[in-house]
Amino acid sequence: MEIIIQPDHVQASEIAARIVARTVREKPHAVLGLATGNTPLQLYRNLVRMHREDGLDFAGVTSFNLDEYVGIPPAHPSSFHSYMWAQLFSGLNIPKDHINIPDGMTADVPAACRKYEQAIRSAGGIDIQVLGIGTNGHIGFNEPSSSLSSRTRIKTLTEQTRADAAAAFGGEEAVPNHVITMGLGTIMDSRMCLLLAFGKKKARAIAQAVEGPVTAMVPGSILQMHPRTILVVDREAAAELRMADYYLWVNTHKPDWQKY
Ligand code: F6R
Repeated sequence: MEIIIQPDHVQASEIAARIVARTVREKPHAVLGLATGNTPLQLYRNLVRMHREDGLDFAGVTSFNLDEYVGIPPAHPSSFHSYMWAQLFSGLNIPKDHINIPDGMTADVPAACRKYEQAIRSAGGIDIQVLGIGTNGHIGFNEPSSSLSSRTRIKTLTEQTRADAAAAFGGEEAVPNHVITMGLGTIMDSRMCLLLAFGKKKARAIAQAVEGPVTAMVPGSILQMHPRTILVVDREAAAELRMADYYLWVNTHKPDWQKY
């Protein structure tokens, strides 16, 4: 895993944006895997800026979101559909029919999940998957104990995750119990994973995912088995990494061609 520690989330998100932008420039028909939540907000602002100011072109790009709440209509203000349009899609030129987000209102969840997997395959697979991490180590909404080879399916949120999402719903009681999420196996099929984490409340999850054992109890730890994962963290999220000094040293001694 490549570990990039930055002083703050603004500088980290600048690097993350350069990594995504490079994928899009190198492959105009790139397939992006996207996350919601607080973590990628600045990355998305940067991509919108790069589109507007530098002409970064998303016309050929296809996107697949990681997850959506079950029972929440797309137009609901707290749906991940609403989030994605507000934070990213309205500022880019991705054609609407290239945008894929799980359908939380489907009457047949297993069939919708199979169709989602099929759509990812038909698009040629995900080139770069943007990920955040939950305080309990989840990626996507693969909560602890998720199968390490799971595919897109329904999951029940933990109390911790529902508490973390309470603000977006104006209280924990309003947070749905279920989500449709890409599985860990789906995420692992991506050609590259870009995991972002900011703030001290992510420090434990990051240390466990990066330096702990690979275990279903810390779903993000499966990324240790991924051939190309880049982790971009701020200093606070890196605070419990035992080898932080080494990761910083690696970065300052990179050959020019490896720099972002
Ligand atoms: C969101 C997702 C989640 C979040 C994670 C962190 O689509 O799949 O795994 O990335 O819960 O959320 P934030 O960024 O709000 O701390």
